Amino acid sequence: MKRIVCKNFGPVDELIWEETDDLSPMPNEVVIEIKAAALNFPDFLIVQGLYQFQPPLPFTPGNEGAGIVKSVGSDVSKHKPGDRVYFMSAIGAFSEEIALDQNLVFAMEDTMSFEVAASYQLAYGTSFHALVQRGSIKEGDEVLVLGASGGVGLAAIDIAKAYGARVVAGVSNDEKGEICKTYGADEVVIYGSEKLDKDAQKAFSTDLKSKSIKGGYDIIFDPIGDCYAEPAFRSIGWKGRYLVIGFAAGEIPKIPLNLALLKGASICGVFWGTFTGLEPQINKNNIDTLNKMVSEEKIKPLISQTFPMKEAVSAIKMIGNRGVKGKVVLVNQ
Ligand SMILES: NC(=O)c1ccc[n+]([C@@H]2O[C@H](COP(=O)([O-])OP(=O)(O)OC[C@H]3O[C@@H](n4cnc5c(N)ncnc54)[C@H](OP(=O)(O)O)[C@@H]3O)[C@@H](O)[C@H]2O)c1
Repeated sequence: MKRIVCKNFGPVDELIWEETDDLSPMPNEVVIEIKAAALNFPDFLIVQGLYQFQPPLPFTPGNEGAGIVKSVGSDVSKHKPGDRVYFMSAIGAFSEEIALDQNLVFAMEDTMSFEVAASYQLAYGTSFHALVQRGSIKEGDEVLVLGASGGVGLAAIDIAKAYGARVVAGVSNDEKGEICKTYGADEVVIYGSEKLDKDAQKAFSTDLKSKSIKGGYDIIFDPIGDCYAEPAFRSIGWKGRYLVIGFAAGEIPKIPLNLALLKGASICGVFWGTFTGLEPQINKNNIDTLNKMVSEEKIKPLISQTFPMKEAVSAIKMIGNRGVKGKVVLVNQ
């Protein structure tokens, strides 16, 4: 079988597509023939050694995928060869095969494609946990989503609309704004692709406030941070919840805490990976709810592009170029 290999932390271009032995399962493991794997922001960071977790070298990147069970270990009771499954893993998805503990592997709905099953657990799982458990979203809330056409951003719009919220989407250009509108965003704010100086931050904040019909947002979903965070926080409403998702724009911002005091607002950290480990039952309920919402078409993950698995380098580079819309999926033909 073949897989993408990172031999040294460094530029994405140094990843290689390499032949290796087929996998055999340990007693508790399932070997999956991977059909599709989804791209996520950490894939871009981890191969450069910039992610919070650095796997031992060499390693294969990739967090989530779907495929067919090829073989199972002697202690495996949950799965059998031929089963259609999806999986989550710290690494290893950008490959033709993966061996995983049976508890990290889940049965797929019969009607779902491998591409869809591979692509929404992490983004939708994060955004659902953020909006529901951390943001306490309810019908009629006003939600501002930044980085709104990306993986977690578009998932946040989709889920917030399904909960009956009014959504304002913040994006860098008109094309991305149009995608957000097709996902139900009620208004779009364009913040451009250059970093905002002090004056531009003031104008951005004014623009955001003008798009809120309540005079401030109940929830702000922020996966970009940097110079966008403080002006966004200034547009929060009374008792608003500011969801700290990530820092895709680069810098980790510092927020003056008097802003939280003045609005009775909460700054809520969101870390989906840790949540899934510490609160497995709530996570399972979330995943069951999301699977039901997908099969009932209440939410609809966007797969904007697919690449052959061996072209993972081109796909991963799109993250750094701000080129991902919804989800990008790598497929084995
Ligand atoms: N906390 C958690 O548990 C958790 C879980 C999943 C992801 N995350 C984090 O959430 C963030 C977004 O992840 P994602 O999967 O949605 O990524 P993505 O699909 O690549 O989207 C990121 C968005 O960020 C915006 N952006 C602004 N400045 C950027 C820059 N310099 N480079 C790249 N993108 C930039 C882009 O939109 P515009 O061009 O419109 O600005 C882009 O659509 C990442 O920081 C990721 O680590 C956190």
